[in-house]
Amino acid sequence: MTKNVADELAGLQLPVERGCPFAPPAAYERLREQAPISKDRLTSGGEAWWVSGHEEARAVLTDGRLSSDKRKDGFPLFTLDAATLQQLRSQPPLMLGMDGAEHSAARRPVIGEFTVRRLAALRPRIQDIVDHFIDDMLAADQRPVDLVRALSLPVPSLVICELLGVPYTDHDFFQSRTTMLVRKTSLEDRQRALAELRAYLDDLVTRKESEPADDLFGRQIARQRQEGTLDHAGLVSLAFLLLTAGHETTANMISLGVVGLLSHPEQLALVKADSGRTPMAVEELLRYFTIADGVTSRVATEEVEIGGVSIKAGEGVIVSALSANWDPAAFKDPAELDVGRGARHHLAFGFGPHQCLGQNLARMELQIVFDTLLRRIPTLRLAAPVEDLPFKTDAVIYGVHELPVTW
Ligand code: HEM
Repeated sequence: MTKNVADELAGLQLPVERGCPFAPPAAYERLREQAPISKDRLTSGGEAWWVSGHEEARAVLTDGRLSSDKRKDGFPLFTLDAATLQQLRSQPPLMLGMDGAEHSAARRPVIGEFTVRRLAALRPRIQDIVDHFIDDMLAADQRPVDLVRALSLPVPSLVICELLGVPYTDHDFFQSRTTMLVRKTSLEDRQRALAELRAYLDDLVTRKESEPADDLFGRQIARQRQEGTLDHAGLVSLAFLLLTAGHETTANMISLGVVGLLSHPEQLALVKADSGRTPMAVEELLRYFTIADGVTSRVATEEVEIGGVSIKAGEGVIVSALSANWDPAAFKDPAELDVGRGARHHLAFGFGPHQCLGQNLARMELQIVFDTLLRRIPTLRLAAPVEDLPFKTDAVIYGVHELPVTW
């Protein structure tokens, strides 16, 4: 390592804010070159192992000795601050924070709802939803239109409502509460949002228990009744996780995907010329932006050796999916947005037992949105320079608050 690099990294605290939407912070690249697993200081205080190599990230995320349980001592404070962690510890656990058999028991019954085959039946309805919001955009008498409000947020929000059987008329309520939860707002605001959302979902599950419908929760309730395992609190936790994980993420990825394509005209032209390229383009956009960085945090339950370093029991480990997805050992010329590259081995949805349960749904929504938007509004363009867009530096999930577009 040259002296300059050593100096640059000496005072480093993680995470480093993204200065540019089209690249990870420069320090991440230096860290990965220097050591794909390194022990670093966190801005929240304390230290954790920072995993930035693609191979090392996959090893960490498939190692059963590294726990997702946020209640365990030593769980790193990265996307969470101490107060939020405390708050989470007092809540019933979500699948995301479970390990081993407990995790499998929570995840297995829901997997069937998210298979490619199951989701294919939803495609026509998702297409209708996307067309409906694009109709409204085209009918608006004013331009520019804010794509976040007009399309990026309402599409995944309505899709997840229909999938779960949550009334869309309540979407303002839960959208504002989930946004609050992923934003670094005050603890009081987050506590209130959490309590209100859980109370709302508690009522919803109670209603569904007495009037089971043919939706995801109806099916879960019927199965649990048959097995004699009706678990009201577990269903409320599942509803909470799916609702919060399922729309803010996809919404941000829709917005950033549009920014990415419209800012790279040669790549945009490739997708416009052949919609058969869209699925691969979606994978590349997921890799390129990696909106959920560091959410894949773990704590070692015993000593583990990975990538030549020894991680002791009780030490925190943070996988930087953003760094791993820009590792040249896994993706040649990672700084190039290349919709033709096979990027499917990216870690934007995580990896291993906790790999995103909703990934097939997210992929389908992204494909339909990009295809339909480019087909129906072929002259779509950004109505503000990229550097003036309000990218999210105050949220756990990267994205953009507002996206003015015109045509
Ligand atoms: C572009 C959109 C999305 C991104 C980038 C994303 C990202 C992720 C990541 C990185 C994880 C792994 C967390 C870990 O290992 O600790 C995860 C887990 C999860 N995601 Fe997603 N997600 C997206 C969309 C969705 C959607 C649409 C749903 C549901 C409808 C969903 C539901 C879940 C659930 C339930 C888990 C927990 C799985 C488990 O713990 O076994 N996600 N997601």
